[in-house]
Amino acid sequence: MSTKSEKKLITLSTINKLKKEGEKFTCLTAYESTMASVISKSGVDIILVGDSLGMVIQGHDSTLPVTMDQLIYHLECVVRGNNGSHVMADMPFMSYATDDLGLENAKRLMQAGANSVKIEGGEWISKMAQALSDRGIPVCAHMGLTPQTINRLGGHNVQGRDPSQKEKIINEAISLEKAGAAMLLLECVPEDLAKEVTNELKIPVIGIGAGVHTDGQIMVVHDMLGISCLDNPPKFVKNFMEESSSIEHAIVNFVKDVKDLKFPSEEHTFK
Ligand code: KIV
Repeated sequence: MSTKSEKKLITLSTINKLKKEGEKFTCLTAYESTMASVISKSGVDIILVGDSLGMVIQGHDSTLPVTMDQLIYHLECVVRGNNGSHVMADMPFMSYATDDLGLENAKRLMQAGANSVKIEGGEWISKMAQALSDRGIPVCAHMGLTPQTINRLGGHNVQGRDPSQKEKIINEAISLEKAGAAMLLLECVPEDLAKEVTNELKIPVIGIGAGVHTDGQIMVVHDMLGISCLDNPPKFVKNFMEESSSIEHAIVNFVKDVKDLKFPSEEHTFK
């Protein structure tokens, strides 16, 4: 049994160093203690307590119904099982709709054991990113396909395909970095756009459905274990259980494939 002192702690500095040295880092979602323990012991750098829990745990068809209290409950479970990974917590739909709400809710997540928080949006979240960062809370800005705005986006479509949308994403990413965002997450964007943003920014860029060039890769843990509740999992999903003998083995293979640039491959990438 490992003790606290034996834990290898992954901090923001660790992630920044990996970007600088050109080594890929890995992230998986978790919502409870046992899975968090397995994930962190398998060498995953960041655990995201994602509001995807609304879909994969609660059975909703979007992330919108997830509340702060529910997110905190799952975050506390994950923190208890974690063995040194960086824990990022999602701020649920409308929990950062105003400055005061955002500050108060981010405080609750950090006090429940998060090491950083993730908020969705472009230019409009710059002020929030700056306010949180000024108060010592690392922020990951989630851009591209942002599930909390699914009703406005009109579906789970690839973002940034047309030139004006592409330019907007690049400019917004730059202004979020300037505002103090500590990390950026790009979901469902073409590979060349993700590459451009990753090269442009000094902060680490995490991708999901964004090709192989981002600094890190994230997957929803259920997806990579092949237990997606969707009939047709998205193109960027790979079932790592197909070539693995156990959950631990699948997660270790995910880490290895990301580090070796084998995942995501062409078949998981939007051009
Ligand atoms: O909530 C979540 O799990 C996420 C990932 C899909 C990136 O935001």
